[in-house]
Amino acid sequence: MQRAPKIHLNNGATIDAVGYGVYKVPPDETARLCTAAIHAGYRTLDTAALYGNEEGIGQAVRDAADTIARSELFVTTKVWNSDHGYDATLRAFEESLRRLGLDYVDLYLIHWPCPKRSLYLETYRALEQLYIEGRVRGIGVSNFQQAHLERLLDAAAVVPALNQVELHPYLRQHALRAFHESHAIATQAWSPLGRGAVLEDEVIRGIAAECRRTPAQVILRWHYDTGNLTIPKASSTERIAANLDIFDFELGAGHTAAIARLDRDQRFGSHPDTVN
Ligand SMILES: NC(=O)c1ccc[n+]([C@@H]2O[C@H](COP(=O)([O-])OP(=O)(O)OC[C@H]3O[C@@H](n4cnc5c(N)ncnc54)[C@H](OP(=O)(O)O)[C@@H]3O)[C@@H](O)[C@H]2O)c1
Repeated sequence: MQRAPKIHLNNGATIDAVGYGVYKVPPDETARLCTAAIHAGYRTLDTAALYGNEEGIGQAVRDAADTIARSELFVTTKVWNSDHGYDATLRAFEESLRRLGLDYVDLYLIHWPCPKRSLYLETYRALEQLYIEGRVRGIGVSNFQQAHLERLLDAAAVVPALNQVELHPYLRQHALRAFHESHAIATQAWSPLGRGAVLEDEVIRGIAAECRRTPAQVILRWHYDTGNLTIPKASSTERIAANLDIFDFELGAGHTAAIARLDRDQRFGSHPDTVN
């Protein structure tokens, strides 16, 4: 069994450097694949109200309870765009917790800033309330750009533990990562494999052949070396296990530089300014 190194967050909690993400994992497959992920050594699981599979995550956590204490697992979920606002967010959280069937979540995120709704400060105030009450062990954001974070930090009492953003070799998010670092906000990469598309890149394939690893392992190792937390999604137990098996090899300086040159500001998901 592989285990990912633990990374300290600004709230004193630790999170695994590599977790398992379940966007587009069908609800009736989620418990089985999350259980496979836990057996492979994952301890961090990422879902969202939007994904429609919170029940499966909770099921896997409960099924593991005989051998793995709840405190060893780290569960993230997110409030969806239509539930922005103080009261709506508190209600949405209760619904997520009910679907998960858990007593608390480790991290509750605002899924998108939704700048046109302009409710994310109130939404975050609800997250702070949940944090104070101990219903969530940590709070943070997702898809926030620097301007959204600046506005949030001016108003907030609690600095977000992390910002989960699209990030892969084609979209390095250099400036945003530097901003995070200067405010002790961890960077977590969604679509760390570029939704699978970056696995086909010639440079990545060449490095994988040199290292005798898979393209996915090369990209996930690059993220780890760069300081990005990742939550790759995969649909087979083999891929799930292989994606965690990245801690017994190293990329050379030439490899890292070649991957850095792939940056082309290319998104596979939506731009945060356009999601509302
Ligand atoms: N906060 C947000 O707005 C947001 C947005 C998107 C995603 N996320 C989170 O980030 C997680 C990951 O992002 P993602 O699912 O968009 O993309 P991803 O993890 O970059 O890529 C997943 C794709 O790569 C393939 N893949 C994974 N491991 C592989 C391997 N070892 N070999 C070959 N192919 C492999 C998967 O195929 P198979 O599934 O067929 O194995 C799938 O098609 C999500 O599950 C979700 O938790 C968050």
